[in-house]
Amino acid sequence: MTMRVRGAALVLTAGFFVAAAAETAATRAADIELGRYLSSECVTCHGAAKAHDTIPNIYGISETTFAEVVKAYRDKSLANPVMQNIAGRLSDDDIAALAAYFATAERQQ
Ligand code: HEC
Repeated sequence: MTMRVRGAALVLTAGFFVAAAAETAATRAADIELGRYLSSECVTCHGAAKAHDTIPNIYGISETTFAEVVKAYRDKSLANPVMQNIAGRLSDDDIAALAAYFATAERQQ
């Protein structure tokens, strides 16, 4: 039984990577564009001009880590109330788009 469950998880994981690889360049560009649009709210705090010690840099974080962290704020397993409130308004698609954008965007000077 344990073996069968593990096998299913492996198949799911493989399926995920195939699906990710099949994502077209156009879809990817659209994701990044949506992320850029949604990022205007984030940049009011996380943009370089206003960033300070209590607000971390969020540019260049790997997409996987970025999505995990924002979802952890959304489900309140990370404690910051400001980020919980902001993440609470984001869908999975929004988070994926933001992750794609911030992973690739240059930090504003
Ligand atoms: C009102 C200011 C503010 C806004 C707006 C804001 N954040 Fe944050 N963000 C913070 C603060 C403060 C922290 C640090 C919280 C902590 O210490 O847990 C943080 C932490 C984060 C982190 C974790 C970074 C790390 O290295 O731990 C991510 C990712 C993040 N924010 C993404 C976003 C995204 C995406 C948006 C826009 C949808 C956004 N933030 C909007 C203030 C803000």
